[in-house]
Amino acid sequence: MDVATLRRSLSEAGQDHVLQFWDDLSLEQQTILLEDLQSLDVRELNNFFHKAMDGFSVSPNQEKVDARMEAVPRDVLGSVTRDREHLRDWEAQGFKQISNGKVAVLLLAGGQGTRLGVSYPKGMYDVGLPSHKCLFQIQAERILKLQKLAKERYGLQCTIPWYIMTSGRTMESTREFFQKHQYFGLKEENIILFQQAMLPAMSFEGKILMEEKHKLSMAPDGNGGLYRALGAHGILKDMEQRGVEYIHVYCVDNILVKVADPVFIGFCVEKEADCGAKVVEKMNPTEPVGVVCRVDGLYQVVEYSEISLATAQKRSADGRLMYNAGNIANHLFTLHFLQKVVEVHEPQLQHHVALKKIPFVDTNGCLIHPDKPNGVKMEKFVFDIFQFANKFVVFEVLREEEFSPLKNADSQNGKDNPSTARHALMSLHHCWVLNAGGHFVDENGTRIPAIPLHANRVNGPTQDHTQNK
Ligand code: UTP
Repeated sequence: MDVATLRRSLSEAGQDHVLQFWDDLSLEQQTILLEDLQSLDVRELNNFFHKAMDGFSVSPNQEKVDARMEAVPRDVLGSVTRDREHLRDWEAQGFKQISNGKVAVLLLAGGQGTRLGVSYPKGMYDVGLPSHKCLFQIQAERILKLQKLAKERYGLQCTIPWYIMTSGRTMESTREFFQKHQYFGLKEENIILFQQAMLPAMSFEGKILMEEKHKLSMAPDGNGGLYRALGAHGILKDMEQRGVEYIHVYCVDNILVKVADPVFIGFCVEKEADCGAKVVEKMNPTEPVGVVCRVDGLYQVVEYSEISLATAQKRSADGRLMYNAGNIANHLFTLHFLQKVVEVHEPQLQHHVALKKIPFVDTNGCLIHPDKPNGVKMEKFVFDIFQFANKFVVFEVLREEEFSPLKNADSQNGKDNPSTARHALMSLHHCWVLNAGGHFVDENGTRIPAIPLHANRVNGPTQDHTQNK
């Protein structure tokens, strides 16, 4: 497309300001801008923006979600503490599926990690363990260990393919990092990187924001961008060819993640679920975590900000919070379900709006760093698809065993940062040693009294054997 034609279609869409500095640009800059604009469907973008803003502005006036919410019923809920008698069977079922090559893992690693504040992908981050293993390595070693354990159980050499969703900002560095580290012992052909889409940030008036005179301000389209990316890059076909039937989807920043957890897989398989969500118990009413529940009969995640304090404080007869299924973006999907989502439902998913302070180039070509939100980023969420499941189940696990996300830099606040992630993993490993009959000594060789924190379950840990001590 030549510039004149492009200008015309941008003008029709009310976005021709993106070419306002065209004549000042070098040839190279013009080429970059042209390429970016040619890959953008501006009509579709405007459409996304209007729908997202409509959804955003109606929500405060909507009939309060509180009145329409129902907690997850016990019959679709599994729990590592309340269903101990089933754990062994679920684990065996999970291992069977793994051994038969029916399980893949899918890592959501397309985020920008703005709060952590590093310029490289979060998976490469070293939280300061004695081993200095980064998040990618920890996860890779868990996959290796599972393959080994599955072989020990069933004698079959199996593969757990690892699909990694990156974004325009993280793709190349992620690829190089894996190459440099020889794929951490996994086979290159079983690590499949693909890229999610990016969308421009928009002003409140729906105009594309520019970060430089020749560059749109682009951001990944949220972890729910997964579904479009799966279709666009033929990932589901690849899974089908490999004989995969179950896909465990998780976030890069959870240092405790049990990739392809056999117990969770087995639970979902036994319940014949096509969509499962792992949750941790929300402990206090004001904890800012989304909860899995039903609204008007459909499963979804309701954010803390969407409900009143009174609803958040409600308790069940057992004393637990009524809405306590804290979402940790950790899911199991069947391939069939993902195929249905990608083919049928993805276009219906609406973007959520996040108000942000977005640096932008003004009409004089000056870069402005706003001190209050001046625009929006549009994102889809990975858990927006629960509503389409035929059979949805929830699996509750212990936070101290399975969830410690790395979100913030150490300097920012005391929560979800490298120190808390490091301590979470080390204290879990500490418990394993104690539960296995070991003990610790201080620097003088004196035995330290042991107070195990975690109950041992299903014969103790099955996969987290990374040596970080
Ligand atoms: P977060 O929403 O916490 O975002 O992502 P983030 O990018 O890690 O951090 P901030 O908000 O910029 O500080 C939760 C998970 O979803 C993935 C992230 O990589 C992380 O695993 N994600 C997020 C994507 O894969 N794509 C996205 O567009 C956004």
